Amino acid sequence: MSAVNIERHGRISLIVVDNPPVNALSQTVRAGLEKYIEEAEADVECDAIIISCAGRTFIAGADIKEFGKPPLEPFLPDVVSRIEACEKPVIAAIHGTALGGGFEIALACHYRIAHATAAVGLPEVHLGLLPGASGTQRLPRLVGAGQAMAMMLSGKPVKAREALELGAIDRVADSDDLLAEATRFAEDCIKQGPRRICDMKVAETEPGVFETARKEIAGKSRGLISPELIIQCVEKATSGGFEEGLAFERERFLECMASPQSDGLRHAFFAERQVGKVPGIGKAVSSRSLESAVVIGAGTMGSGIAYACLSAGMSVTLVDNDDAGLARGVKSIENLFSGGVQRGKISEADKEDGLNRFSSSLGYGNVADADIIIEAVFENMAIKKEIFGAIDKIAKPGAILATNTSTLSIDEIAAATGRPGDVIGLHFFSPAHIMRLLEIVRGEKTADDVIVSSLELARKLGKVGVVVGNCFGFVGNRMLYCYARESQFLLLEGAAPEFIDQVLFDWGMAMGPNAVGDLAGLDVGYKARKERSDLPDDPRFYRVADMLVEMGRYGQKTGKGMYLYEAGSRKPLPDPEVAKLIRDEAKRLGVARRDISAEEIIERCVYALINEGARILDEGIARKSADIDVIWMNGYGFPRHRGGPMHFADTIGTDRVYATICEFRDRFGPLYWEPSKLLKELGTSGGKFADL
Ligand code: 3HC
Repeated sequence: MSAVNIERHGRISLIVVDNPPVNALSQTVRAGLEKYIEEAEADVECDAIIISCAGRTFIAGADIKEFGKPPLEPFLPDVVSRIEACEKPVIAAIHGTALGGGFEIALACHYRIAHATAAVGLPEVHLGLLPGASGTQRLPRLVGAGQAMAMMLSGKPVKAREALELGAIDRVADSDDLLAEATRFAEDCIKQGPRRICDMKVAETEPGVFETARKEIAGKSRGLISPELIIQCVEKATSGGFEEGLAFERERFLECMASPQSDGLRHAFFAERQVGKVPGIGKAVSSRSLESAVVIGAGTMGSGIAYACLSAGMSVTLVDNDDAGLARGVKSIENLFSGGVQRGKISEADKEDGLNRFSSSLGYGNVADADIIIEAVFENMAIKKEIFGAIDKIAKPGAILATNTSTLSIDEIAAATGRPGDVIGLHFFSPAHIMRLLEIVRGEKTADDVIVSSLELARKLGKVGVVVGNCFGFVGNRMLYCYARESQFLLLEGAAPEFIDQVLFDWGMAMGPNAVGDLAGLDVGYKARKERSDLPDDPRFYRVADMLVEMGRYGQKTGKGMYLYEAGSRKPLPDPEVAKLIRDEAKRLGVARRDISAEEIIERCVYALINEGARILDEGIARKSADIDVIWMNGYGFPRHRGGPMHFADTIGTDRVYATICEFRDRFGPLYWEPSKLLKELGTSGGKFADL
């Protein structure tokens, strides 16, 4: 079977794209489409042409794997134009999702019919791109400028019925036999003849529509170029001719394609799809059952995990040994369901169904039946060992015993049981029902099918699971330690908390480190540091955070931390008292204060991440640099358009990162700035993390 095939049924030619897994528009698909459109057009016994797809979906877009390589003919915009120019009616029969270039192919067709479960969309913005095969010119002509921009700027696909209401498609096929319905529809299309979008005009746009779109992207897109260029293309569609619009779109598309932003976002796309493939664990290893869970610990984390599992359709029992704590956990789960209903995310029936699968208990009773037990009590090894010892005696054979520790040794916890193969770390991020990352920590003895099950659990919960090795803080928090360490030093050296936060926010981080500390609670890190015996003997180390905690300033929860918070507000306000405290402490410690540039803040914080990431790779704690990137993009607010810290290092050059770290070592001493072995190797040989 080739990637595109043609067959004739009566007087209808059926072109079928068959390019698994998602029928992406690789060169062979583009060439096949062009060839068979021409063949069908020349076929005297053909009156109309249907383009459809085999497999799970209509064409999901241009082949992203071909991006960044020399382009191969025929080019997609030419194939799209060729389809539209066809003199016989061409109908797109859409199932699954018609996305990006796939939807652009459908827009080039003269008519569109979609199965009721199908969706269409232009998600290029998520890849730092804009629709580059006439989508910015055709969609506004069909649905109006405002609606077209909404679809392109959000990148969200719309379901068939909504697409029909908008005018993006012509028919919805309700029966499962899409092709039969498309064939019947083709009879009508033959009577009407080809109907080309390029001949249409964009409907009169409402005044202010572009200003509104610009305002909407201002807060969200934060320096991304493609949203603004999408708006410009649509403006062009409303003011100029079709061909002129195409040329304008092409230029803007190529500009986006060449940008490091798109490179970073494309890296993010593939990295997130690779993390699920663990070397050494083949497809033959299947997941254990994951129908029922017991979550031990009814605090914020435990309740969030329980809610996430309930939302994924699992039966969940929340366990705590404290009556009041358990009641608070139950209430917070009920509130999460009610909040979901209020915000229109779930229906009243979904809420009821979720709560019907939920129970709570003061004892370990339900542990005996659970497929997975997730411990989420506070970070204390002795307590965790006690819990694992107890559940080991009750849990059924084959149950997965997971700990939500964010730092402690999985092997030590596993040793408290007689079944270390069943024990794994599942490091959720707070709030657990929202944050996409699940760090899956494999112990020395964790069984392969427990790892596969954990990845399956991540998928079920709508999260991205990344398998990492066991060490203090694993990948994410171990790197965070270095990043936050530098931001703490910078405070003493003269940078104001709000300046550090603004610089890193403007660089793309979701929040600055000082605001994050206040949000998470400065006391959390403080307690974790007190548990460690391996910290450097350096009075400056996390000194500002320690002082604040010792003054009772824990962050948002106490109304003050690094910043001040007005009652009921989460807005961080700079606090002159903290500024003075830092100045006085710097003086006491003999730290010279100076003006610190934005560039130095970025380099000190981000290069500290990269250096530690390289060490983690070298030790085999992370298997590939892309895994580290996925962790930082999904768990720590690292900007997606920079592709994660390790991809960022590759983008600016490992030689530059290495040289700057050597400078830092010479300036600040080797204690924190000794370049890692791997970074040295790459930096002195022109290598990239991605090539390892
Ligand atoms: N090109 C190349 N490979 C693609 C691809 C694409 N457009 N879309 C998906 N794939 C690959 C994935 O990498 C994955 O490969 P793997 O099995 O080797 O890891 C495989 O297809 C399956 O993908 P998913 O795991 O994501 O499968 P799902 O079923 O969860 O999702 C999907 C399917 C909704 C189609 C999702 O893959 C998706 O959103 N794809 C991207 C769609 C997109 O962004 N299209 C626009 C491309 S840019 C464009 O068209 C430019 C044009 O305007 C000129």
